Order: sequence, then C-alpha cells, then structure tokens
Amino acid sequence: MTRHFLTLKDLSRSELVALIQRAIALKKDPTGPQTAELMRLRTMVLIFEKTSTRTRTSFEVACAHFGGSSIFLSPTDSQMSRGESISDTARIVSSMADLIVMRTSEHSRVCTMAEYSAVPVINALSEDFHPCQLLADLQTFFEHRGNIQKARAAFVGDGSSNVCQSWINAAAMMDFELRVGAPEGYHPKRALVETAGNRCKVTTSAQEAVSDVDLVITDTWTGMGQENEKTQRLDALSDFQVNQQLMALASKEALFMHCLPAYRGQEVSAEVLEGPQSVVWDEAENRLHAQKALMELLMT
Ligand code: CP
Ligand code: NVA
Repeated sequence: MTRHFLTLKDLSRSELVALIQRAIALKKDPTGPQTAELMRLRTMVLIFEKTSTRTRTSFEVACAHFGGSSIFLSPTDSQMSRGESISDTARIVSSMADLIVMRTSEHSRVCTMAEYSAVPVINALSEDFHPCQLLADLQTFFEHRGNIQKARAAFVGDGSSNVCQSWINAAAMMDFELRVGAPEGYHPKRALVETAGNRCKVTTSAQEAVSDVDLVITDTWTGMGQENEKTQRLDALSDFQVNQQLMALASKEALFMHCLPAYRGQEVSAEVLEGPQSVVWDEAENRLHAQKALMELLMT
C-alpha cells in the first residue's frame, strides 16, 4: 500500500522516534553507502501553491544527495492554476514520478492529491498542518536535550497556525505537555486539542503558558494567504510577542524555536531570535536531515 505523510499521525510513535534517530545519524554521516542510491532513476515532483525557501531547498537537496532528480511546479507552472483538478493532476504526475511533495492552502487539497496518487504524497504545509517542520523541530529538541517525553513546551502567538496545530499532534504522540498561549479568536481547532487529552492546554495568557517550560515556540502572526488580515492580526496578537521579558518566565535552560521566516519585532524580538536560547538555525538545517529520513521511510 502506498504510504503518505499528510500529518504526523501518519506515523506510529515508534516510527517517529526511529525517524528522529535516523535523521540525527544522517546528519552525522550524510554520505553512508545506504543513502546514495535511494532516488537513483527516481524523480520527485514538488507542487507548490505557496512560496518557500527552506522546504523547497531541503527537499531538492535531499533528492540530489540521494541520486535522484526533482521537478518544481510553482502555481504558475502547472495547469492546476487554470482549473485542472487535483485528482487528474495526481493521476498524471504519479504515473511518471515516484514522490509528490505538495504545499497548498486547504488541507483537503493535499488529502485529495494523496487519494488519487499512486506514489507517496508528502504534505509540505497546508493551512492546518506543517508536519515536515515538526520532524526537524523534534530532531532539534532531541539533539539539545536528549528526549522530549515529559518535557513542558509552550506555543505563544497564533494558536491556529499550521505549526502550532502540528505541535499539538506531536504532544499527543510523544507524551509531553504543550501549553498554547493565544488570544481569543486565535486558538487551535477545539476538536484537535481534544485529541491530545491532557497533553495540550489552551490559555489566553502568554505568561501563564511559558511559566517554567523547557521550550518556547512561536510562528509568524500573518501566515501565507492571510495577508489581507495583517493589520487586525498585528493588533490582536501584540501582547503575545516572545521577548526577553517573556523568556525570563520560562525555565533558565529553555530553548526557543521558530520555523522561520521570522518577523523581528512582531512575533519575536531580535534579541530572542539571535540570543543564546534560540535554536532556529538548527531547526532550519534539520529540515534536510529529517526529510531525508522521511524519504527513506516512504520510498523503501
Ligand atoms: N519553515 C518553512 O517551511 O519555511 P519555508 O516557507 O521557507 O519553506
Ligand atoms: N504558519 C506559517 C508557516 C510558514 C512556514 C504560514 O503558513 O505561512
């Protein structure tokens, strides 16, 4: 059966832990003989309906390291922008290519791609979830702190963001506490929070969320596709900036994460982003290693 990766929950807990360990090993030894052939004579097609720096680069570099070729279809390149259906596109692309990586708006679009594709489909970000980001973020936490089980993490800012919602899945799967500090109107989907049981708590206080946590996370206040709400978002979220004052309430050893791109002076201060607790550059680099481990899992 063709395996897809649309949310973190497409992996079992043990697969996720093994994938993180594999990503750490691939980072230490990227040239092992087992890796060079994975994509030989195989092609990855990236169908991106939104812009990207890290996700596109990391997938294309991973594919090149694995000996494969890749094709990038931006919104203006494919016939989907002129109304060709996702289901037709999935059948056609998967009859020629070996892996589809899709970045899109509604989560249902990547689900439809997977439904009609004969080859694995990876969600490279939808409005609801960004699971590839979480692979890299979990790898980063493991590298710095050994394990995340029983840790305490806080997501501060737009709790309805795809990154926050993927952190909720991670908390349920990896058994750590995630507190979401977000204003009314910017909370994660209630049904999703409920799936995490006591592993996820939502509060309207940023201070309460970060109190004594081991990890503070944020994301842009205005995600891709939300540009027309920018003024209202900056206003609603203005008390939820991660700055040194807020970080001082977390544990002394707390790490700071941000998927990037970051907007200094909005969701995070420049001091925190560039400061000693920030591991954002590791997160970005780990996109490459974690997605290599994901490709191995789906392609072998
Ligand atoms: N974090 C992330 O997904 O970055 P890009 O939008 O640059 O791919
Ligand atoms: N939440 C952000 C993540 C960017 C990587 C967005 O969707 O734009």
